[in-house]
Amino acid sequence: MSESQVWDDVDEYFSAHLAPEDDTLRAALRDSDAADLPQINVTASQGKLLQLLAQLQGARNILEIGTLGGYSTIWMARALPADGRLISLEYSAKYAEVATRNIARAGLDAIVEVRVGPALESLPKLADENPAPFDLVFIDADKANNPHYIEWALRLTSTGSLIILDNVVRDGRVVDAESDAPDVRGTRAAIELIGSHPRLSGTAVQTVGGKGYDGFALARVLA
Ligand code: SAH
Ligand code: DHB
Ligand code: MG
Repeated sequence: MSESQVWDDVDEYFSAHLAPEDDTLRAALRDSDAADLPQINVTASQGKLLQLLAQLQGARNILEIGTLGGYSTIWMARALPADGRLISLEYSAKYAEVATRNIARAGLDAIVEVRVGPALESLPKLADENPAPFDLVFIDADKANNPHYIEWALRLTSTGSLIILDNVVRDGRVVDAESDAPDVRGTRAAIELIGSHPRLSGTAVQTVGGKGYDGFALARVLA
């Protein structure tokens, strides 16, 4: 058996026992597929990790950058209290429409809001609204802008908030300091910003499984 087949099998085993998808999550992926959205959502195990981290944070307010069909959104929003709030930013009007339907079917439309447009346009508007600090920010959009998203996350959070960055490994491409690829450059800049920023304490976790070899960076906002 190839190594990646083992990783997939183990991921499936863990998901089956620890992060089983209910009909709502399955329907979200089914309808995302039917609408031809790319299959780049987090896995069930990863969605469950995001949910547990939101719960550990005692999160009441969550910001997501990169909605796609709302799969990660649903996992995280399920960690929120009934008066909680999740704002998710999505570039594509089409993807946002699919996500909005998936979120409504999950019964989460009262606490989740999907905002359409380039996140770097939505974020200043959001900041102008002076929202309560976000307890968790999940960054999972265009990787070239990762350092900008970290900076915005810092503006929109407070001490103790958690910032999570997806896809920081990409089959190991993150170590290529000479890479011209915008996603590699953006992710490296974000990792180095987390490492050097006086208000951030972070680490990164490599992952294998249904999404191949990838990983998350996690950063806690300091005073
Ligand atoms: N978080 C989702 C996956 C997101 S995929 C999940 O795990 O289920 C990345 C998403 O970021 C795509 O939907 C893409 O359209 C969106 N995106 C890309 N560039 C963006 C931008 N500049 N602003 C907002 N969203 C963007
Ligand atoms: C891509 C984006 C993601 O957020 C992800 O988790 C996997 C792949 C992509 O753009 O290819
Ligand atoms: Mg991702």
